[in-house]
Amino acid sequence: MRADPAAPRSRASRLYGASLDPRPLGVAGLTMPGPSHLARPPMRSDQQNPSGNGQSHPDPGQNLNHRPPHADAPPALPVPIPDLCIQHTKLFINNEWHESVSGRKIPVRNPATGELLCEVEEADAEDIDKAVKSARAAFELGSPWRSMDASDRGRLLNKLADLVERDHLLLATLEALDSGKVFLVAFFVDLVATIKTLRYYAGWADKIHGKTIPIDGDYFTYTRHEPIGVCGQIIPWNFPVMMFSWKIAPALCSGNTVVIKPAEQTPLTALHMAALIKEAGFPPGVVNVVPGYGPTAGSAISHHMDIDKVAFSGSTAVGKLIQRAAGDTNLKRVTLELGGKNPIIVFADCDCEYSKYQAVETVLRGRVPAGSWKRPSTRRLCVAVWRKARSKVLGDPLTPGVDQGPQIDRKQFDKILELVESGQREGATLECGGAPWGQQGLYIQPTVFSNVTDDMRIAKEEIFGPVQQIMCFSSVEEVVTRANATHYGLAAGLFTSDIDKAFTVSAALQAGVVWVNCYNAMSVMCPFGGFKMSGNGRELGEYALQEYTEIKAITIKISKKNS
Ligand code: NAI
Ligand code: MG
Repeated sequence: MRADPAAPRSRASRLYGASLDPRPLGVAGLTMPGPSHLARPPMRSDQQNPSGNGQSHPDPGQNLNHRPPHADAPPALPVPIPDLCIQHTKLFINNEWHESVSGRKIPVRNPATGELLCEVEEADAEDIDKAVKSARAAFELGSPWRSMDASDRGRLLNKLADLVERDHLLLATLEALDSGKVFLVAFFVDLVATIKTLRYYAGWADKIHGKTIPIDGDYFTYTRHEPIGVCGQIIPWNFPVMMFSWKIAPALCSGNTVVIKPAEQTPLTALHMAALIKEAGFPPGVVNVVPGYGPTAGSAISHHMDIDKVAFSGSTAVGKLIQRAAGDTNLKRVTLELGGKNPIIVFADCDCEYSKYQAVETVLRGRVPAGSWKRPSTRRLCVAVWRKARSKVLGDPLTPGVDQGPQIDRKQFDKILELVESGQREGATLECGGAPWGQQGLYIQPTVFSNVTDDMRIAKEEIFGPVQQIMCFSSVEEVVTRANATHYGLAAGLFTSDIDKAFTVSAALQAGVVWVNCYNAMSVMCPFGGFKMSGNGRELGEYALQEYTEIKAITIKISKKNS
């Protein structure tokens, strides 16, 4: 995955509350044991590894899970499965494994090494059509799925969560290999969030219901919250398995059926989830998993006349295409969770140790411009942030002690470096980083810019990489105006000890989520989504259920009503 636990991966800790733990560590609230007894010591981001990186896998004999417990030893941490065998590479349609109609396959690579892990079948329009037919059949009136008790839909989701728990280590290893995400992050953040999401929506399955309404006249009126139908779900590469759960759990608990396309870069955990869906006992056709490329398989989903709803996470540019495709075809319902340029505002009065620690961590994590009031405090912030950036350990995501893995692919790697170059060209001060790292793999050093002005590309465009921009501001009114001067509105952070500022600034910021004296404090219970061009609709929490149900009002004539 991308080198930044920060930017795109900033969502990592959302569901895990990592940002609530003030310990200085690499991964989500865990204290890492010294790496020396586990594997080759990883390199810090300011060191160059003469022999390259990306080759060091932990010795299976050193798996901590098999070490005798010592009273004073740190708690055992999981270790990736060595030489993992990839089992599932075909399209999952109607609870069966299919080859693609075209015979084409997608090469799946490990971004830490470039190594070919396997090839998976590549879905195109005809395969999507097969998947939609199977999802439609599963949604027919009287089908096992439509006639199932709501509580049994919840039971199936809980069963799926049990199976994810059983395969926790396997899925985390697969995720780290396929996406370049740090293994312990995958294990403790993504997989934990996935399990929580499945269980949370399992609990909702039998609590989704309408109202009776006292309309005028002799009538009895009630509402039903009905499933929308076949949902086409398109997900990106930054949180492959977690996003999979975000896109199936609310859809299934409310009775829909699903055709889901993982990102072409990261299909492997989605295909393993498909196997678990079958094992859990979901009826055929309820979930179909079809890896493919965006302009072919993704476009076939967004244009399909028999898909009733599309939920998409990814770039704003593709979000626009999806909304347009819905308008050009059947006006399918569309929810979009898109890019962001999240401001983080650090007021000079942020004075408690906890907030200061959080502010530095946050500034480093945001895909964001961050600003601080008054120049001297901005300077102090810059120094703290670049120190932190330089302490990040880069290396193979499977190696213990590594904080930051590679970028997902060459396209993203080039995009980030091009934006870094533009920052230098446009006159920002490069405090640290700014270049690739290591001799193999798509690594980028954690990068911090100061003296950034609002007109620079790095201040305006989503970088989605380990690059931080620090800017200065001088009044509350000014910083609010500047923070809102963007087409995006995904999230924002602010740090202050002044309660009045906390209330007034959080209310004034145009963002779907505002974190005060914390950042990425995400939870499956809390809605997530953007204002403006960061998207439409909300995921997670009770609010997400609105995006997966149609409200039907039924009015029955009666002879005489009574109050
Ligand atoms: P993308 O938006 O192209 O890809 C995300 C998903 O959309 C993938 O499954 C892809 O196959 C699919 N897709 C692509 N083109 C499509 C089309 N025409 N119709 C239907 N589906 C399509 O994102 P990409 O290229 O991987 O990353 C580009 C930029 O997008 C990143 O640099 C970052 O700024 C942003 N991004 C934002 C994410 C978020 O969570 N908000 C996640 C991933 C990327
Ligand atoms: Mg991959």
